[in-house]
Amino acid sequence: MTSIPDLIAEFRRRFQMEPSHLIRVPGRVNLIGEHIDYNGLPVLPMAMEREIRAVIARRPGAEVAVTNTVRRFADRQFTLSRRIPPYQTGDWGNYLKAGVQGIVDWAVEKGLEPDGLSGFSMLIDSDLPMAAGLSSSSALVVTSALATLSAAGLSAGRRELADRLSVAETYVGTLGGGMDHASILLSEAGAALKIDFFPLRTTVVPLPAGFDFVVTNSMITAPKTAAARIGFNRLSMESRLAVMVLKKKYEERTGAALDNVKRMADLYRYLSPSEVLDMAAGIFPGKVWVKENTAAALGLSEAELDRLYLTMRDGCLLPVPEAGFLFWPKVQHAISEGERVKDSVTALQSGNAEAFGRLMNESHASCRDYLGISCPALEKMVTLARSAGAIGSRLTGAGFGGCCVSLVPSALSGRFQEIMAVEYYDKYLKSHHPELYEEARATGYQNLIIVTAPGHGATVRTLAAGGAATPAPATAILQ
Ligand code: GLA
Repeated sequence: MTSIPDLIAEFRRRFQMEPSHLIRVPGRVNLIGEHIDYNGLPVLPMAMEREIRAVIARRPGAEVAVTNTVRRFADRQFTLSRRIPPYQTGDWGNYLKAGVQGIVDWAVEKGLEPDGLSGFSMLIDSDLPMAAGLSSSSALVVTSALATLSAAGLSAGRRELADRLSVAETYVGTLGGGMDHASILLSEAGAALKIDFFPLRTTVVPLPAGFDFVVTNSMITAPKTAAARIGFNRLSMESRLAVMVLKKKYEERTGAALDNVKRMADLYRYLSPSEVLDMAAGIFPGKVWVKENTAAALGLSEAELDRLYLTMRDGCLLPVPEAGFLFWPKVQHAISEGERVKDSVTALQSGNAEAFGRLMNESHASCRDYLGISCPALEKMVTLARSAGAIGSRLTGAGFGGCCVSLVPSALSGRFQEIMAVEYYDKYLKSHHPELYEEARATGYQNLIIVTAPGHGATVRTLAAGGAATPAPATAILQ
């Protein structure tokens, strides 16, 4: 990664101007609680010590010009306006636009005109692996949002931003939840963060002494845009539909109205998790759920079902899978994973690393068996990790590839990393994905096997006049 003084020098060279702010935004690794944030259920991630760094300067007018130290990410330039039109689906610049648009919307709601915002120049650098389930995309959204605030000299609360930016990221067409932005903005160094949603609440959770969290990158890429977007969106759309069917059935049976129920967590205001599970067991299994019976269960026409629940942001319809909607496995995962997060917090608060490790393993199995988001490479990786000494190992993030996180006794950590290097990269990857093996060698194993302590949330610092390399104390851009 480029050092901060070099980054500042490079900014001057590329833009011929002095930078005013340094923005640092970490990635996150989710320890447990996968694919349940959009169900409103709690999750337990930690910020990483890997991050996006950006230096910026306000520029006259409304142009936003962004350049990346990695040339693979082509320069992007666009105009800040009330409605910023997106690039083509899959373009990295859409994450930048999503962050800027998020702040435009926020400013308008606060009664500020977009004219009050300003364009900016930004140079980005990162040592956070991309498309690997470590939230590089949300980190980019947060970076460009903080750049927009900094250029305008505005300040915002971390919590407010976390809420706002999780919605703002839907600009790119994915329907994630609020975990990533909350973890990136609200984490405190040295601990994991339990995050509850609607309303957003956070609890600092201690991590066991004497253990390392080792993140290993399978190299199978997990992009959330383009084709994988459908796989990802299916998970949240099916969960949402399943909840609506459960709500409707309950109302029909009891005659009671369940108000404001949109997500699994909302059902828990009326029923315990095990009551919801029992009810779901009586409704979903043994039937193929296609549009016709799903619409009928909800008292909707198929056209209404399409419009209300199956239309993605770009207007495309989510295709019905051959086996029909998989409501029952989605419900089983959501309910059990929510309980595992609660149990994990209890285990960690009492220093019981073994119990937490077991819960990590169970979470992995649930992600694989109920959500279908594992793949052969991830299976190989967790199996190797467990035999190399991890007391818990699971896929982390959106899945379909990306990384695993393993809980490893520190005394075994060095040996663990050596075994993973040989057994996964030099043997498995080389024989099963030779092209990725070459890439792994070029990337360097130190960027693929990452031991990370829990990092702190994003920071914005002003750079002293004249662009002195030493950042001045934290400004109040982030409160
Ligand atoms: C992505 C989303 C998150 C969350 C995870 C899965 O990272 O952005 O909101 O849903 O997948 O846990």
